[in-house]
Amino acid sequence: MTRYTLPHRLLHWMMAIAILSAIPIGVVMGDVKQGPFQNALYDLHKSLGVLVLILALVRVALKRSQGVPAPADELSDSQLRAATSVHHALYALMIVVPLLGFVANSFYGAAIPFFWLFTIPTFTPHNEDIAGMIFQLHTALAILFGILIVVHIAAALHHRFIRKDSVFSRMSVP
Ligand code: HEM
Ligand code: HEM
Repeated sequence: MTRYTLPHRLLHWMMAIAILSAIPIGVVMGDVKQGPFQNALYDLHKSLGVLVLILALVRVALKRSQGVPAPADELSDSQLRAATSVHHALYALMIVVPLLGFVANSFYGAAIPFFWLFTIPTFTPHNEDIAGMIFQLHTALAILFGILIVVHIAAALHHRFIRKDSVFSRMSVP
C-alpha cells in the first residue's frame, strides 16, 4: 500500500472543502446584517460543522479498519515527527471543534436545520452563560485549527511543487 485508500482520500477532500468553507463563514456570519441572510449563514455553518463531525468519526473508523500506507520514504525522522504531530492535532480538532460548537449551540437553545433537510433538536437545558463559555473555546480552538491547516497546506504544496516527491500523490484523487 503506497497511497491512502480511495474512500480515505475522498473523505479527506470532502472534509477539506467543508472545513475550508465553515471557517470563513464562521468568521463573517456574526458581522453581517441581521436578517434571513445572516440566519442562512449560521445554518450553513452549523450544517457544515455537523457534517464534518460525522465524517470525522467515519474517517477514524475507516482508518482503523483499512489502515494507512507506511510513511513516505522521502521524509527525514524530524519531518515525519512534525507531520505526524500535525496530523494527530488535525484529527483531534476536526472532532473537538464541531463537538464544542454542537454542544454550545444546544445550550444556546438553537435547533439545527441540517442543510434544510431535517431539524436536529437541542439536547441540553437552555443556558446562555454556559453556551457563551463553550463558544469561546470553540472559537479559540477553531483559530488553532485554521493555523495548523495553513501549515499543513503549505507543507503539502511544498512537497507537490518544490520537492516534487511522492507525498502529494498519496492523497490525490484519482
Ligand atoms: C469544522 C467545524 C467547525 C469549524 C471549523 C468552526 C469554526 C468557527 C469559527 C472560525 C467561528 C467564528 C468565531 C468568531 O470569529 O467569533 C465559529 C463560530 C460559531 N460556530 Fe463554529 N465551527 C465549526 C462547527 C460548528 C458547529 C457544528 C456548530 C453548531 C452546530 C457551530 C456553531 C457556531 C456558532 C453558533 C458560532 C458563533 C459563536 C458566537 O457567536 O460566539 N460551529 N465557528
Ligand atoms: C481542512 C483542511 C484539511 C485537513 C483537516 C487535513 C487533514 C489531513 C490529515 C489528518 C492527514 C493525515 C492523513 C489521514 O487522513 O490520516 C492529511 C494528509 C494529507 N493532506 Fe490534508 N487536510 C486538509 C487539507 C489539505 C489540503 C488543502 C491539501 C493540499 C493542498 C492537503 C494535502 C494532504 C496530503 C498530500 C496528505 C498526505 C500526507 C502523507 O502522505 O502523509 N490537505 N490531511
